[in-house]
Amino acid sequence: MSAPNKSYDPVEVEALKPEEIERMRDEALAAFASAGDLDALAHAKTAHAGGTSPLALANREIGALPPQAKAEAGKRVGQARGAVNKAYAERLAQLEAERDERVLVEEAVDVTLPYDRVPAGARHPLTTLMDRVADIFVAMGYEVAEGPEVEAEWFNFDALNFTPDHPARQMQDTFFVQGPKGVEADESGVVLRTHTSPVQARSLLDREPPVYIVCPGRVYRTDELDATHTPVFHQVELLAVDKGLTMADLRGTIDHMVKELFGDETTTRLRPHFFPFTEPSAEMDMQCYVCRGESVGNPDRPCRTCSSEGWIELGGCGMVNPKVLTACGVDPEVYSGFAFGFGIERMLMFRHNVEDMRDMVEGDVRFTRPFGMEI
Ligand code: FA5
Repeated sequence: MSAPNKSYDPVEVEALKPEEIERMRDEALAAFASAGDLDALAHAKTAHAGGTSPLALANREIGALPPQAKAEAGKRVGQARGAVNKAYAERLAQLEAERDERVLVEEAVDVTLPYDRVPAGARHPLTTLMDRVADIFVAMGYEVAEGPEVEAEWFNFDALNFTPDHPARQMQDTFFVQGPKGVEADESGVVLRTHTSPVQARSLLDREPPVYIVCPGRVYRTDELDATHTPVFHQVELLAVDKGLTMADLRGTIDHMVKELFGDETTTRLRPHFFPFTEPSAEMDMQCYVCRGESVGNPDRPCRTCSSEGWIELGGCGMVNPKVLTACGVDPEVYSGFAFGFGIERMLMFRHNVEDMRDMVEGDVRFTRPFGMEI
């Protein structure tokens, strides 16, 4: 700091001369104007408006002036500093606006671009649907059961009360791995299971009643591959064996599954049928969940899902035949049971309007992908 000014004139202090103050101010304004970005502006600010800038140092000189000179010097320096601060604030706002505009352009996101260059796979919708059906029953306390796809003829047929001459055993229905069954009654062949019902017998032999199982799995029949048949397909089997089970329990269980899969308003019906392993037996239908029966007899409103029949066939069901319970060591005087089974391919067809079953087996990802990664 300078020594006290003898003549009390602020002009005599070099740093407080008007032309000096103007020079400092103009240099500051020029530095701010030429700062090309926010970093350069920050440097210019330190140099021209910071604590050690020429104007700040000049400001300190004022303290050494006599009282009558302080006012004028203070006004001069204050105006210069005010102008510098204003110029800084304006340039700062200008550079920040430019930066924001640039960021908007440079960091713009094109939401129409593919989000991932490696396409994610998808589960096959048959797997997803089988899991979904199994989950409905697991939530009710059922256990998921499995059985072999290469199955003893005894489990596939005999234990289920198929007589030795039942047509389903014929070579044209069944893939025999060993056999067919010889003349000797105890000689059981080996087949690719034609349905998931052998898991009924296996589960009853494995467990003590009460038994509540759901069995999703692959089955095989010597059917030609066409729009509505495939030689390798999937079924879901349900079996409940307990004291006091009736057709009402069967009906309620089918209803529950159908409502879970197709909505609360969907109703079901049973039609008398025959299966050797259930007595009585029925075929189960659900009301068409698309037209709700309104397409029946109404040519103006045809329905592709149910072919305007109003009902969709689901599969077979019935009360477990006492002969099956006996063959599996369960006393039919004490226990009763119900079972049902249906095809997953057919369900996928009417649930998702798939017109040709061959699309499901050809392995083209363009079929699978639209179903997504449903878990
Ligand atoms: C049975 O397989 C019985 N086991 C179902 C059952 C279980 C009845 C428990 C009673 C108690 P069915 O042969 O009708 O029944 O076959 C059941 C379903 O499998 C059919 O409704 C159909 O959806 C499906 N299915 C049958 N053959 C084929 C095929 N070649 N391709 C695709 N799905 C088929």
